[in-house]
Amino acid sequence: MSHSQMHRGFQIKLFGVAEQPGSLFSLTPFLPVHLTGTKYSCGSGGCGACTVMVSRYDPKTKKIHHYPVTACLVPICSLYGAAVTTVEGVGSIKTRIHPVQERLAKCHGTQCGFCSPGMVMSIYTLLRNHPEPTPEQITEALGGNLCRCTGYRPIVESGKTFCAESAVCQMKGSGKCCMDQEEKSFTSRQEKMCTKLYNEDEFQPFDPSQEPIFPPELIRMAEDPNKRRLTFRGKRTTWITPVNLNDLLELKTNFPEAPIIMGNTAVGPSIKFRDEFHPVFISPLGLQELYFVDSTDDGVTIGAGYSLAQLNDALHFIVSEQPKEKTKTYHALLKHLRTLAGAQIRNMAVCSLASYEIRLCQSSFRDGLGTLRIVLTAGKRQIPLDGRFLEKSPEANLKSEETVLSVYIPHSTRWHFVSGLRIAQRQENAFAMVNAGMSVKFEDGTDTIKELQMFYGSVGPTVVSASKTCQQLTGRYWNDQMLSDACQLVLDEIYIPPDAEGGMVEYRRTLIISLLFKFYLKVRRGLNKMDPHKFPDIPERFVSALEDFPIETPQGIQMFQCVDPYQPPQDPVGHPVMHQSAIKHTTGEAVFVDDIPPISQELFLAVVTSTRAHAKIILIDTSEALALPGVADVITAEDVPGDNNYQGEIFYAQNEVICVGQIVCTVAADTYAHAKEAAKKVRIVYEDLEPRIITIEQALEHNSFLSAEKKIEQGNVEQAFKHVDQIIEGEVHVEGQEHFYMETQTILAIPQEEDKEMVLHLGTQFQTHEYVAAALNIPRNRIACHTKRAGGAFGGKVSKPALLGAVSAVAANKTGRPIRFILERGDDMLITAGRHPLLGKYKIGFMNNGVIKAADIEYYINGGCTPDESELVMEFIVLRCENAYYIPNFRCRGRPCKTNLPSNTAFRGFGFPQGIVVSEAYITAVASQCNLTPEQVKEINMYKRTSRTVHKQIFNPEPLRRCWKECLEKSSFSARKLAAEEFNKKNYWKKRGLAVVPMKFTVGMPTTFYNQAAALVHIYLDGSVLVSHGGCELGQGLHTKMIQVASRELNIPESYIHLSETNTTTVPNATFTAGSMGADINGKAVQNACQILKARLQPVIRKNPKGTWEEWISEAYEESINLSTTGYFKGYQTNMDWKKGEGDAFPYFVYGASCSEVEVDCLTGAHKLLRTDIFMDAAFSINPAVDIGQIEGAFVQGMGFYTIEELKYSPEGVLYSRGPDDYKIPTVTEIPEEFNVTLVRSQNPIAIYSSKGLGEAGMFLGSSVLFAIYDAVAAARRERGLTKTFTLSSPATPELIRMTCVDQFTDMVRVVRRAPY
Ligand SMILES: Cc1cc2nc3c(=O)[nH]c(=O)nc-3n(C[C@H](O)[C@H](O)[C@H](O)COP(=O)(O)OP(=O)(O)OC[C@H]3O[C@@H](n4cnc5c(N)ncnc54)[C@H](O)[C@@H]3O)c2cc1C
Ligand code: FES
Ligand code: FES
Repeated sequence: MSHSQMHRGFQIKLFGVAEQPGSLFSLTPFLPVHLTGTKYSCGSGGCGACTVMVSRYDPKTKKIHHYPVTACLVPICSLYGAAVTTVEGVGSIKTRIHPVQERLAKCHGTQCGFCSPGMVMSIYTLLRNHPEPTPEQITEALGGNLCRCTGYRPIVESGKTFCAESAVCQMKGSGKCCMDQEEKSFTSRQEKMCTKLYNEDEFQPFDPSQEPIFPPELIRMAEDPNKRRLTFRGKRTTWITPVNLNDLLELKTNFPEAPIIMGNTAVGPSIKFRDEFHPVFISPLGLQELYFVDSTDDGVTIGAGYSLAQLNDALHFIVSEQPKEKTKTYHALLKHLRTLAGAQIRNMAVCSLASYEIRLCQSSFRDGLGTLRIVLTAGKRQIPLDGRFLEKSPEANLKSEETVLSVYIPHSTRWHFVSGLRIAQRQENAFAMVNAGMSVKFEDGTDTIKELQMFYGSVGPTVVSASKTCQQLTGRYWNDQMLSDACQLVLDEIYIPPDAEGGMVEYRRTLIISLLFKFYLKVRRGLNKMDPHKFPDIPERFVSALEDFPIETPQGIQMFQCVDPYQPPQDPVGHPVMHQSAIKHTTGEAVFVDDIPPISQELFLAVVTSTRAHAKIILIDTSEALALPGVADVITAEDVPGDNNYQGEIFYAQNEVICVGQIVCTVAADTYAHAKEAAKKVRIVYEDLEPRIITIEQALEHNSFLSAEKKIEQGNVEQAFKHVDQIIEGEVHVEGQEHFYMETQTILAIPQEEDKEMVLHLGTQFQTHEYVAAALNIPRNRIACHTKRAGGAFGGKVSKPALLGAVSAVAANKTGRPIRFILERGDDMLITAGRHPLLGKYKIGFMNNGVIKAADIEYYINGGCTPDESELVMEFIVLRCENAYYIPNFRCRGRPCKTNLPSNTAFRGFGFPQGIVVSEAYITAVASQCNLTPEQVKEINMYKRTSRTVHKQIFNPEPLRRCWKECLEKSSFSARKLAAEEFNKKNYWKKRGLAVVPMKFTVGMPTTFYNQAAALVHIYLDGSVLVSHGGCELGQGLHTKMIQVASRELNIPESYIHLSETNTTTVPNATFTAGSMGADINGKAVQNACQILKARLQPVIRKNPKGTWEEWISEAYEESINLSTTGYFKGYQTNMDWKKGEGDAFPYFVYGASCSEVEVDCLTGAHKLLRTDIFMDAAFSINPAVDIGQIEGAFVQGMGFYTIEELKYSPEGVLYSRGPDDYKIPTVTEIPEEFNVTLVRSQNPIAIYSSKGLGEAGMFLGSSVLFAIYDAVAAARRERGLTKTFTLSSPATPELIRMTCVDQFTDMVRVVRRAPY
């Protein structure tokens, strides 16, 4: 039997499947090994990397329905009768690339490429249903796909090229398209600026009629009148698909405990992550009796099989047909449906559970309204969706043998108001922190409450009905006194215990009444619309409180300097060249480590990690694990032949554990599922040790540090404090950040037959050589590390792959078999940690005119349990902490704290994004004290002429001044600030804020030898050139730039040049690809190699100046000229003398400025980023597309860091946030609605082609969003009479924003402070 089809000739045999735990529950393991395009990143449906298209034929409508699903959650058995298209079926380099793939690549929508196949599948599926989509449909289709690299703007733009009208660059307000004009000139500087990063004339046309046809065999199957019940039997589980409704009921009677599987978006994660087990599953997916919409005069009944996406379509249709007053409930539901999960989940999850699951299980569908009714079979029972149902009252409960057949949603009536309200950490694709469904019916023609219902989700284990409150308010008038009583009553009725799961108790309590207030306003407005004479309207200033932030399709302009018209056309330097692997990214043919085909005898590794923060290991019992099928071995510290503790980094815990998440042992088995099962059976007995240090404050109490204090100082700080007008002191907490690279840490370690050689393939930014050699006690010349590409890194793949490489190599060494080690997302987040949380303490002395005379700053970072890079991170923070400001008397000190958390590590910006928030915070505080704007204080104190930094390095701030000035001018800051103030005067519950941050960033390392690089260039006899260098391709376009360099230097087209991978056998001793230096230093090495070769070829060229490249190479060979050479760059001369506190620590500085404008909802704490303008000093950009991509991507990553990304630990040091469900990185809906980036020209003769390294700098510019939020919150506080300076810590989450916008509602609940880590 083979009735699920993969386009391009692949079919899945569903019978006789060799079952592994949970295998029926995901398509992913069934995808053939050669189809590597469908990526696996989270396994929980939350990232979209595994998106595929499912197509089904509907025999009723005779139509084919295409929809996106996440392969990691879609059960393989549910695909019977469906056609599945993976990215390989869309197009490939070997056959023909599809326009979606081509445009995503050419619009620079790929960087690391790990998310790209998923993006392609989401856009492709949309186009199959809507060949000319609207921009809104593009944004909606991408809402379930995460990208950690690009910042989404170019991805959306590639999608917009399919829209009917030219939607790409319609600039809001201006009415113009930036594409109208290829070049813009800034007359003041006589510089030609370009705006075209790609040429749409090169795109192949999109012809929707050319798509593959739906397999006729599947149509025949769907129409077969003699269908039978289907049963798929695995070793442990059985999947049954009933043939009709009676069959379903019979099955439910026979197997009452068997879950009904529809979308599997609730059951799947429970099986995968919560070890739920079911021997039988019943899946009525596709059962015609469950798919219908019945519209009657009083309501609509929707079949239980309808997906949320189908429900959405059905409701839109009903809303368009019915009078407005009947559709209030549908409008409320539609609002929910737009932002609930992503498009894939909405297409998988069924709507009947929208209400049913509210009460059934907390992890399930938590959003819904209280006006639905369920119809059941088995006696045709009906259960009203009232409070008793939602609160799981036994008599109102669904019995285990019963099945939901349909959901009935009544029309609303004239004197009936319904509202659905939700607030989540992120606008789309995030579970609600609190949601509510409220409805009120009035006595006709009055505002007397006849029936009131209020349901809250996420405030307890089930949905909670505020029934007592509602009862008590029945008969009351809908007025302010009723509201005031309602708030008190509902707070009394709905109790959230202080230790409630999910925390945020005060915030959630505040939301309960804030959402009630919104409903109150909405109803009052509605009443007024119905009878303005009888019912007064709400104040005009309150109106904006009613509306949620709209989801707009982002747009903007990217500007960069045009290439000199006299530059030879063949020279690619300065052009926006597409990423060298972009097409392969989009076709899924780019090979990542896990795409390497299985190697004979290979074993999979699963980790057993510590569950204690600080404890003695009393016992490790592996007997049960070893006895399980497929298990080859368990590896512990005893098995490390060399150093188990290398430079303070511990590979396998020995004797004691020092954090939750430390690797204690690993299990090697024939499949990952077996290894994981066995890992769960390893029994470890601990004895807790004291102290257990989790927070920075606890570390300070225990004097627990990883290294000595670092300090720099200038002037006489103490003396200066005596002569200032004012002194302020404060503290700023900046929390950590998870890298969330889309490709989790993956290592393939292959022991060789001879001489203890070991080959490793890994996605890293630093070769793992050193650690593996130490662990195995073998010389480094026996180890070959290969890195083709990493699926994102951002600093997380500097030191951690070395540690994990050593762990895998030890396992490979012990078992003598290849080891495939892929960290699950949860393990990756737990083990590898991330950006250091920071505590900054400041004391600032300043004059009343805003001039800062003295600053004394102390920094502490939470380094975690081992040294890693913490000392270096602290050095960088201290060296860079003055940012763009000259403060004559300045002292800065810092120390990394040693705690019992997993060891924090390098992260884009290396301390700068945390540290400089403190500087910006005290500047903002000074401004507030002096009644100046922060921008005025920044201007006053900013470096103005060639100066020395605090560590005495000379620099010229001219590009800084230029970025700052242009940012203020071109963003129309002053005019928009005035407009925001006007807006704020007119709107009480929504506030706008603007902020501009300047930046003086550094690249490179304060040690010369870290800045060295080498390259190896071979010219082959056919003229083709192979370039290798020591830098790793992480998505940042490094190899692309290196090809541009080699092309210019050798004066040959890029197509002659190939760059395959980075490995330790071609370029040894490479330094890490970090510090924004990849292209700088490797570029110099490649340039050097090419120049050596070019010099060797000169005699041949001189002899035959008109010859071709191929002729010269052939001639050179015949003249025995060596056509291969290494190139070398010694490194920038940098130094830092910490004893003196001075030195030329960095080769050069990168400057920039960014202006952001936000709107804040004071009642919920949500914010919307309206516009961002970035001006970045790029000097001369080797590749503007790559550089703009880095700036935008870093900015969005920074914006996430400063706003929504929140790591949650227990007081015992257990990380709760271990996946996309709990840790929210920005999605396409978070990026600025208008996003403009300009590369500012300057000189940087020290670097290759006078360029600058821009990989990290944009990260800090994300803080303009944080300070814009601060500005908006400050406006709210001022209006409420709170004039005292306040500090907004980072991240400015909805919780923090809401609780800082103090008002009558927050006053009703006690304010709680978040515990910093
Ligand atoms: C990434 C992700 C994001 C999500 N985001 C959100 C969100 O923002 N808000 C939210 O509320 N939810 C969210 N969810 C949860 C998800 O949407 C809900 O769990 C969904 O309602 C489940 O539908 P399903 O068809 O996938 O259920 P399944 O997993 O197939 O089944 C769930 C349960 O319902 C029972 N069941 C199914 N059909 C019937 C029937 N006809 N009669 C009786 N019992 C039945 C099953 O027995 C089972 O116990 C998210 C889930 C994921 C994976
Ligand atoms: S891997 Fe499937 S959604 Fe993330
Ligand atoms: S390109 Fe999207 S995650 Fe890297």
